[in-house]
Amino acid sequence: MRLAFIALALTVSAPLAQAASQPDPAADMKAFQGYFLKQFPKLPLAAYVNGPYNFSKSESDQWKQIMEFPPYQFAVDDGKKLFETKFPDGKTYASCFPNGGIGIAQNYPMFDAKTGKVVTLGIAINRCRVANGQKKLKLTVGPLADISAYMTSTSDGKPINVVIPHNPKALAAYEAGKEYFYTRRGQLNFSCASCHVQAAGMHLRGDVLSPALGLTAAFPLYRSSWGDMGTLVRRFIGCNQKVKSEPSKPDSTAYRDLAYFMTYMDNGLPESGPGARP
Ligand code: HEC
Repeated sequence: MRLAFIALALTVSAPLAQAASQPDPAADMKAFQGYFLKQFPKLPLAAYVNGPYNFSKSESDQWKQIMEFPPYQFAVDDGKKLFETKFPDGKTYASCFPNGGIGIAQNYPMFDAKTGKVVTLGIAINRCRVANGQKKLKLTVGPLADISAYMTSTSDGKPINVVIPHNPKALAAYEAGKEYFYTRRGQLNFSCASCHVQAAGMHLRGDVLSPALGLTAAFPLYRSSWGDMGTLVRRFIGCNQKVKSEPSKPDSTAYRDLAYFMTYMDNGLPESGPGARP
């Protein structure tokens, strides 16, 4: 793979900078994906799930080595055991999900009309626990990341398919997520887009900045720098901290909406979690 050090000027406007007066997620997605396909004409849509590996030969070589013994495999195995273990009431996680939870991860986050809120896969796992008399798990690491890893592995390759229904609250959640993504914050005054749109493919210290397109597709993932698995919200917290801004709570509306917007932008890309990153 060629190193694509596309010198995007930092003044390049974000693909969705001009807010439409009426929310139009489908048009946004087309513009968002089109922007990257134009910036990196050699990169096919499905390749975006590989994030930084498209832009760094040394990282992609490292990746090939890592993938001989995928470091997330233990999480998938542990997650499967947990997924199949009965709650004290005799039910399992399968009872809480469509199709018994198999092959459905690509449909999350989902809008829940009953509560008017976005539900990520992690939050759905916790809801299932509470419905069966169990305590919630941490949304960032540990057993919940393992269960997510297992469930996501059963969706491998399925096109991401987040739905935004014609419901004012769903559209508002989408718009809030979009706004979060483009809002500058923290002492460094960077938005998510500053790094993952305007500087996509460029280097930041030791890292290559992944394009915003595909950012959600390989979660949960094993990061060598974490030394274990983490969910998408773990990464949100990390990226908030990078710019010295106060992270939101893992189950906050802000992060749910952000995940809703970002994953919707990835619609059509193959579900690729669990993943591995340097
Ligand atoms: C100062 C630059 C910077 C900003 C601002 C930033 N990130 Fe990141 N982000 C990084 C770096 C560096 C990485 C690790 C390398 C990579 O994959 O891009 C990363 C990785 C990620 C990843 C994992 C990608 C993968 O494939 O492993 C996600 C998801 C992500 N960022 C989301 C966000 C979100 C959401 C925001 C806004 C709240 C944000 N980032 C803001 C620098 C930034």
